[in-house]
Amino acid sequence: MRRNGRLTPSQQRALVELMPDFGLEFHPEPLDFDEIFESLHPTTLEIGFGNGDTLIEQAGRNPGMNFLGIDVHEPGVGRCLLQARDANLKNLRLIVHDAIEVLEHQIPRQSLARVNLYFPDPWPKKRHRKRRIVQSAFVDLIANRLVAGGTFNIATDWENYAEHIDEVMSRSNLFECTDRREHDGDRPLDRSRTRFEQRGVQKGHRIYDWCFRKAPNS
Ligand SMILES: C[S@@+](CC[C@H](N)C(=O)[O-])C[C@H]1O[C@@H](n2cnc3c(N)ncnc32)[C@H](O)[C@@H]1O
Repeated sequence: MRRNGRLTPSQQRALVELMPDFGLEFHPEPLDFDEIFESLHPTTLEIGFGNGDTLIEQAGRNPGMNFLGIDVHEPGVGRCLLQARDANLKNLRLIVHDAIEVLEHQIPRQSLARVNLYFPDPWPKKRHRKRRIVQSAFVDLIANRLVAGGTFNIATDWENYAEHIDEVMSRSNLFECTDRREHDGDRPLDRSRTRFEQRGVQKGHRIYDWCFRKAPNS
């Protein structure tokens, strides 16, 4: 489940020393955000935060909101932990586990104000497209975990994945699209530029950003 990659000594140390402060274990039981964050603030979830640059930036800028990040790539988690420590963040927790399992078992119904999915693995080969995380069942699960009026923010730099996201989201009657924009990396929608976005821009990719709002009666 976890992807070890190559950990630098400081990332390895961060995983050992900082996970007790910022990490939550995977257990197949619903989390109590009010207790975990010791506040009644709304919670934003970022799925696949990578190195955590955007997550750290948003958590630092929004002290009145709680942030939960999920990823399986340990070197990225290590970097995110080091940034969280340096920024002295109190409103951030991380889970190193498969996002679908966490959503299914640990995230309570109607508990999230916002979900961010920035540059999910594109699986560009046709035979691998079934592995893309954005599928109808995933969209239903996100809707179930969002509060009424909560938002689902997505970005990709793969044109074919963008077409797929448009198709899957337009089939769902649980969300309405409140914003959609295509740009060259210069107009990210309500987020800072991410590392994978930077790579995409360097390759000449166009960037696609969406904001969907959970429909009032879903
Ligand atoms: C292409 S990277 C994008 C990282 C970051 N959002 C960015 O834009 O720089 C996708 C990330 O999703 C994570 N990921 C992929 N599948 C996942 C899963 N099932 N559960 C949790 N994280 C996952 C990967 O480990 C990786 O860090």
